[in-house]
Amino acid sequence: GNESTVSITVVGASGDLAKKKIFPALFALYYEGFLPKHFTVYGYARSKMTDAELRDMVSRTLTCRIDQRENCSEKMDQFLKRCFYHSGQYDSQENFAQLDKKLKEHEAERISNRLFYLSVPPNIFIDAVRCASSSASSSNGWTRVIVEKPFGRDSESSAALTKSLKQYLEEDQIFRIDHYLGKELVENLSVLRFSNLIFEPLWSRQYIRNVQLIFSEDFGTEGRGGYFDHYGIIRDIMQNHLLQILALFAMETPVSLDVEDIRNEKVKVLRSMRPIQLEDVVIGQYKSHTKGGITYPGYTDDKTVPPNSLTPTFAAAALFINNARWDGVPFLMKAGKALHTKRAEIRVQFRHVPGNLYNRNIGTDLDQATNELVIRVQPDEAIYLKINNKVPGLGMRLDRSNLNLHYAARYSKEIPDAYERLLLDAIEGERRLFIRSDELDAAWSLFTPVLKELEERKTLPEYYPYGSRGPVGAHYLAARYNVRWGDVG
Ligand code: BG6
Repeated sequence: GNESTVSITVVGASGDLAKKKIFPALFALYYEGFLPKHFTVYGYARSKMTDAELRDMVSRTLTCRIDQRENCSEKMDQFLKRCFYHSGQYDSQENFAQLDKKLKEHEAERISNRLFYLSVPPNIFIDAVRCASSSASSSNGWTRVIVEKPFGRDSESSAALTKSLKQYLEEDQIFRIDHYLGKELVENLSVLRFSNLIFEPLWSRQYIRNVQLIFSEDFGTEGRGGYFDHYGIIRDIMQNHLLQILALFAMETPVSLDVEDIRNEKVKVLRSMRPIQLEDVVIGQYKSHTKGGITYPGYTDDKTVPPNSLTPTFAAAALFINNARWDGVPFLMKAGKALHTKRAEIRVQFRHVPGNLYNRNIGTDLDQATNELVIRVQPDEAIYLKINNKVPGLGMRLDRSNLNLHYAARYSKEIPDAYERLLLDAIEGERRLFIRSDELDAAWSLFTPVLKELEERKTLPEYYPYGSRGPVGAHYLAARYNVRWGDVG
């Protein structure tokens, strides 16, 4: 018959990402009934493993987080039965041809659609793409490849990578993942902005003073130092996750919600950005810190990091968009590891109310009285708006209170993991949340010059204690533009 089947091959199946994110996301999709009737999951990696061993490995990462209904473990068993393993080299056509043979058996004459998730380091992924596309692509359906960052480490290496990928794949087969685009509140950004009259008209330099994009983690590189040291926080978080959020936040209204209409607007805004100046960037690196009798390691205490590494684990930057909507509005980014808290949020600080009648009731700190919209991407997802309000009682005293949309209180359903949405989109061929190659180029063009400058000058990072709020330089940077970070009180 003409029924179709999807085979999902996770290349690099024993890696961290596969275990922590990809297999659990596939199971969640299966559990919720989103996977097609006929599907097979293959793990592919170099180590020898049996199907049973793979299932055992995968089963340890699955949880019944969606709900606790008793059929969860039954579903797990059913899911695991659809999981298989193939051991092979990443650069062996022959090994991929063996995989192809096995996939064909599962596909049993149906239309075969194949998704390869390349969860392997960049020095391997071209080989894997070459072998997968030449020896294991579908003969009568689609073949798609999901690639994870890093997509290079600057404009040149990224362009080279794109060029090699395109030797083997068409652009519409390549799904470049930025998992922040799969996060619920990032997906909601356009809804909030374009479907609410109380926000849409305010979205410009006329009403917005500054926008802050903040990412912090309360742990260090922990074992990922080898990867991290080659990239640093600007390439790990800013050039992709935070910049993608910025593009969605600041883009002009797209013609429609169609994939290319949205991506066209994102590229436009990225290309309108002013080159980043060296003095608009602050970098930091965490150092060891002892608190409550526990010593937390510094970045260079990681065995996989060179002891004299200058790689930033923290950065703050001021960015500007040279267009009519955003001229002069600072977009401040801040990203760091080993800080005091784990959080990702967008903060929009509005201008003062002109001729505010209540200025004298507000107190001395007028800055503290401007409206601020906070979109908390994680954890504890929320959208809240700080407004001035009369403190109840006699007299006239104002304070700032929150209009608060707290997801856990408002919605009973658990928020899906970003990888669930993205995997489902890739299976369905929906590429709205994936990065087009010109978007990637624009993102690299923005950051490459300043990254090179920092590296050529061997700029020393400002050291900050593990678990602290990060380098004080971030405050000076913000202050230069008359901005106060919203997350520090
Ligand atoms: C990854 C970075 O892209 O995102 C990691 O490489 C970081 O360094 C991670 O820890 C954060 O993702 P999330 O979804 O946990 O916020």
